[in-house]
Amino acid sequence: MANIHDILAKQELEFNDLVALLAATGDDRKALFEAAARTKAEHVGNVVYLRGLIEFSNVCRKNCLYCGIRLDNKEVERYTLSDEQIIAAARFALENRYGSIVIQGGEITSPAFTLRIENLLNEIKALSDGKLGITLSLGEQSEDTYQRWFDAGAHRYLLRIESSTKSLYNRIHPNDENHVYEDRLEALRLLKKVGFQVGTGVMIGLPHQTLEDLARDLMFFKEIDIDMCGMGPYIEHHQTPLYAERESLMPLQDRFDLALKMVATLRVYMKDINIAAATALQAIDKIGREKAIKVGANIIMPNITPGVYRDSYKLYENKPCTDESAEECTGCLDARITLTGDEIGYDAWGDSQHFGKKQR
Ligand code: 5AD
Ligand code: SF4
Ligand code: FES
Repeated sequence: MANIHDILAKQELEFNDLVALLAATGDDRKALFEAAARTKAEHVGNVVYLRGLIEFSNVCRKNCLYCGIRLDNKEVERYTLSDEQIIAAARFALENRYGSIVIQGGEITSPAFTLRIENLLNEIKALSDGKLGITLSLGEQSEDTYQRWFDAGAHRYLLRIESSTKSLYNRIHPNDENHVYEDRLEALRLLKKVGFQVGTGVMIGLPHQTLEDLARDLMFFKEIDIDMCGMGPYIEHHQTPLYAERESLMPLQDRFDLALKMVATLRVYMKDINIAAATALQAIDKIGREKAIKVGANIIMPNITPGVYRDSYKLYENKPCTDESAEECTGCLDARITLTGDEIGYDAWGDSQHFGKKQR
C-alpha cells in the first residue's frame, strides 16, 4: 500500500487513496490531520463562520428509518414555530453578529408551506436590510418552490444525500415513492440549477456502511461539485426502526473518529469548500465540534431555536444544548472556538470560496 505521505502529496486523490486515508491509524492518522489543518489554513483561513440554526418545525412527511422525528414516531410532540418566533430568532442572530441563519425543519410540501417560507424570507431580508445570509434545509421540493425561495432571498440550501451508495440509501429509507434515491439526486440538481450554493453530506457509521462506501461519498461530493458539506456520525435513536440493527454498529467512539477522518480527508480533497462541524459530533464527544475545526471544518451552527422546543427536535439521542438558551450557546461557542485558535467570522456571510470562484 502507498505511503500516507505520498498520498497526501498527490495533486488528485483517487478512490484507493481516499480509502487509505479513511483507514489511517497512529502516525498516519496524525499526518492526515496535520495535512488537513494546513490545507484549511492555506485555502479558507483559520476563521469559523456562524450560522444560527432555527429548528423551524419537527413535523415531517417522511419516514427515514434512522430519524427520531419520522412521521410514524407517535411519541414525539410535534411543534411548529410561529412567524414571530422565527423573526425573533433571526433578529437575535443579527444582533449577535452571526452573519447567517439556517432555517431547518422536517419535510413539508404544500402550496401553503411554500408561501409561508417565502413570506418569512422576505420579512427576514427586510428586517436585516439584506445583511443576514439565509440557508434553507427543508428537504426535497419542486423546482418552482426552490425558485421562489431563492428569489425571496435564500441563497444556500442543505440537502444531505445521507449515503451516495444507492443500496445503502435504500436500506436506511422505506422502500416507497416518498424515499427515492433518484429523486434526491434530482433535487440536488435542481438546487444548483436555480442558483443556490448547495451543501450535502452523509451520516458516518451507518449499519453495513464500509470505508469504500464513504470513499465513494467523497467522490460523489466532488462529482456533483458541492459548495458546502455537513456530515456527522450516525447516532441510533431508540424510537426508530434502524435501532434494531444497533448490534451491527461500530462503537460510538469509532464512529466519531471516522467522522473526523471524513472531515479531514474531505478538506484535503476539496480544499476550498465550507465544511460544517456537525452538532452530532458533540453528542459523542464534549469537544467534538472543536476537534473537527482542528482538522478542517470551518462552519458552526449554533442553535438559536427557542429553548423549549429544542428537546422536541431530536433526530438522534444525546443531542447537545437542549437545556441551553440562544444566549448561553453564543457565549459558550465564542469561548470554545477561541480555544481552537481560530477566530470567529462575525458579521460575515462566509460564503464558500469554492462557489465564489465558480461565479467569477
Ligand atoms: N443520527 C445522526 N444524524 C441524523 N440525522 C437524522 N437522523 C440522524 C441520526 N439518527 C441527520 C440526517 C439529516 C440531518 C438533518 O440530520 O443526515 O439529513
Ligand atoms: Fe424527516 Fe429529515 Fe428526519 Fe427524514 S431525516 S424523517 S426527512 S426530518
Ligand atoms: Fe450550546 Fe455550548 S454551544 S451550550
